Amino acid sequence: MIRVLFNKKGGVGKSSLTVNLAAISATQGYRTLLIDLDTQCNSTSYLNVTDLPKESSIADLFEQTITFHLHRRPTSEFCHPTQVENLDIIAGSERLTELESELDSRHKIYKLREALDSLKSTYQHIFIDTAPALNFYSMSALIAAQRCLIPIDCDDFARQGLYSLQQKIAEIKEDHNENLEIEGIIANQYMTNANLPKQIINELIAEGFPVLSEYIGQSVKMRESHQAKKPLILLAPKHKLTQSLIGIFELLDKN
Ligand SMILES: Nc1ncnc2c1ncn2[C@@H]1O[C@H](COP(=O)(O)OP(=O)(O)OP(=O)(O)O)[C@@H](O)[C@H]1O
Ligand SMILES: [Mg+2]
Repeated sequence: MIRVLFNKKGGVGKSSLTVNLAAISATQGYRTLLIDLDTQCNSTSYLNVTDLPKESSIADLFEQTITFHLHRRPTSEFCHPTQVENLDIIAGSERLTELESELDSRHKIYKLREALDSLKSTYQHIFIDTAPALNFYSMSALIAAQRCLIPIDCDDFARQGLYSLQQKIAEIKEDHNENLEIEGIIANQYMTNANLPKQIINELIAEGFPVLSEYIGQSVKMRESHQAKKPLILLAPKHKLTQSLIGIFELLDKN
């Protein structure tokens, strides 16, 4: 199953959730791949992926679609092991920015889907981290994926953004990817003792949004985990935050 974590709003937890869900999936024994499509490369650095072989990032994978090669390298050559057993990564790259307009003008929007098709038998779960923008790369991811997970930080701007996001996803489904579904809205940094998050989540549920029933609280452990460059399942497997992330993973459709 290919999942993309997407929200045009920044700082809602896309990278934190992508890395932690992928790490949980891998520690449960599923062959798992994370793809970092954000030029900020937060997922890549969170997993402490540094010494990569030359020309083997996500930018190189895209670049070979616009340069002539006698032998195109298979996608598997861009997948690298991480510190987590069973978890591989296609690492992010700042060079995605300079490639974007050419990829777009040469209509390479289906290339990620084609690349991932060849990995379906290798990985049971693929998680894609995206930038906070509906750019060429997040569009490519929404075209390649079967499921979209939308993290929100439970404020009113996040709710307003959801309506246009829902419309955009419906349009992509109709025009490019009939398999695409919004699998769940993930309430992140949820504060149990404040009224507003509860109210926002209840309204979203009443409007029919598929809010996942497990909410993720706010905890400094998340930042500690970033700083240690270790996913929570390795750093603090018993912590409440880790347990709710496991709870989210358990809610995902395992097909
Ligand atoms: N549950 C949480 N508890 C505490 N802090 C959190 C939690 N989730 C995310 N954060 C913090 O919020 C900030 C943004 O998180 P993150 O980078 O994962 O969001 P993002 O959506 O990927 O951001 P961007 O849009 O810039 O890619 C980080 O500093 C992170 O540590
Ligand atoms: Mg991010």
